[in-house]
Amino acid sequence: MNTGYSGGIPDEVIEAVLQHNDIVDTVGKYVHLTKQGKYMKGLCPFHSEKTPSFTVTPERQIFYCYGCGAGGNAIKFRMEIDGLSFPEAVRLMAEESHVPFQDGKGAAATPQNKELERLLQAHEWAAKLFHYLLKNTEHGKSAMEYLRARGFGDKLIDQFQIGYAPDRWDTLVQFFEKRSFDLKEMEKGGLLSPRQNGSGYVDRFRGRVMFPIMNRSGRVIAFAGRILGEGQPKYLNSPESRLFNKSRTLYNLNLAKGPIRKQGQIVLMEGFGDVIAAWDAGVQHTVATMGTALTDNHASLIRTLTEEVVVCYDGDNAGQAAALKSIPILEGAGLHVKIAVLQNGLDPDEYIKTYGQERFVEQIIHGAVSTTKFRLIYIKKNYNLLEEDGKAAYAQEAINVIANLGSPTEREVYLKELSVEVGVSLDSLKQDCNLARQTLNRKQPQSGQQGGRGGGSGGNGRSSRKPTAPTLLPAYHVAERRLLSIMLQDGEAATYVAQHLGEAFNIPEHAALAAYIYSYYAQGKAPDVSRFIGSLHDDRLEKTATSISMMDAPLDETLRGMDDYIREIKKFPQQKLIEQKREDMLRAEKSGDFLRAAQIASEIITLERQ
Ligand code: GTP
Ligand code: MN
Repeated sequence: MNTGYSGGIPDEVIEAVLQHNDIVDTVGKYVHLTKQGKYMKGLCPFHSEKTPSFTVTPERQIFYCYGCGAGGNAIKFRMEIDGLSFPEAVRLMAEESHVPFQDGKGAAATPQNKELERLLQAHEWAAKLFHYLLKNTEHGKSAMEYLRARGFGDKLIDQFQIGYAPDRWDTLVQFFEKRSFDLKEMEKGGLLSPRQNGSGYVDRFRGRVMFPIMNRSGRVIAFAGRILGEGQPKYLNSPESRLFNKSRTLYNLNLAKGPIRKQGQIVLMEGFGDVIAAWDAGVQHTVATMGTALTDNHASLIRTLTEEVVVCYDGDNAGQAAALKSIPILEGAGLHVKIAVLQNGLDPDEYIKTYGQERFVEQIIHGAVSTTKFRLIYIKKNYNLLEEDGKAAYAQEAINVIANLGSPTEREVYLKELSVEVGVSLDSLKQDCNLARQTLNRKQPQSGQQGGRGGGSGGNGRSSRKPTAPTLLPAYHVAERRLLSIMLQDGEAATYVAQHLGEAFNIPEHAALAAYIYSYYAQGKAPDVSRFIGSLHDDRLEKTATSISMMDAPLDETLRGMDDYIREIKKFPQQKLIEQKREDMLRAEKSGDFLRAAQIASEIITLERQ
């Protein structure tokens, strides 16, 4: 994923980090590797497997898993294994290997970056100030009582750096003035508000318990301020700013990263209070959205961290409806989704207070159900199962849900449960279900209902990463991969391809890679796959480049071999054109326009001669 900051890290830093972090050493700290010819092999840390398909190639300084397609250089490995963004990984590895790396983002000190850094600084100070005021001063007393009453102990208050903004107009204003911060800048960053009438600024947050919101690397980028007790608005959040984008931020991701990796799972909640209470209950791989609906951005961010998500939203109608809505968004990002269902309108925090931490972990989190099961629970609420009519109507709606499942075994499991619930024989339900499936098939021919909603939870629903072995790719596709592979190993070959093919690769990703390869050599660099990958900053391109450089099939690196590949690649658009013309010709014939058909036929012949 492109994380925005990555562009700011100078190439020299990335290269120095790669030079100081040998791929075998880096991976070897996490995976037991054994030598096997040119490769080192081990069990893939990114998907579960019994026989090793994870390889490290010292010669190329890359890793690649033939099972799940994970791959890249040493930086990429640390990103994936430690749940870090690109700049985070580079910074950490630079520190570990004593590569000089000044300012936090390693970015050139442009005026924009300076402003960003000042805002981060201001948020850091503000968080410390609020925390201090809460814990050590008279101002914080009522807030402290409020937090105590809600069950927040000192440890939690420290861990989450919770604070208090006193009910005054100028706590931060004075603090910033003393430290010569630019107040206008602080207003832009959402910490101050312009004074209603007249000039100057006032504090934005007053009389509120302050929850600092951190980015992935733990820097404060915003605040959520909760009113003590009742009142409106209950939460006041920082406005969106250059630091803070709600649809890309997940509360507690900084602390949850490690636990998410360890558990192979993330728990998604609605509220800050819920996340903190869950943390206290030992469920530390938990994050919350920022009071906004879940977005595709959130989902793909989560997908970079793990493959499985447990949605644990509030037990009220709004929460359950939101949970239902989240399913296609999360599944759309390739995640395996489970739902932890809270009943009686409780939110996770209230549930824990009412029934205790242990029961929360065992019944709610461990008891999370499949999305199908959740759909059934969800629709059941609309019917009165004590009445025959209610039962029948529920059964019909339930069957429509179950009919969506691709696996017959799964359908049978749910139909059996349903049979008990509504007191109808399994056979009748099966018949109804088959009918429903026929209707479905008519609506969406041959797609088999897999993927999308309802599907994707068969035997081992975990693996949404598919094996990436290039099985039976079309000839032009193979030719493109081979050519790129040669180009990665040989600068002169790249120059030759630049002259004879340029960027005319048929697959857009390949065209992009070619462009990157040309520019890589244009900077006078020597062939080095790992270094090249380090210059990409794009997850998909990195993966493709890695998989290409791992191709085992013998390459024809002679000029003639390359010419053959180039011809194959150029042929493809031509072939497509011919096919299209053939269709045009048939259409013309059918409509009786024989003159036009003959004309097209001669065009086809010319094209074929070429
Ligand atoms: P507590 O009442 O403190 O336990 O909060 P909660 O997290 O249970 O709140 P609730 O379930 O009402 O809302 C869930 C999330 O929605 C909160 O954590 C906030 O992110 C957001 N939210 C709730 N109320 C407001 C509000 O008044 N303004 C804004 N901006 N966000 C809110
Ligand atoms: Mn709550």
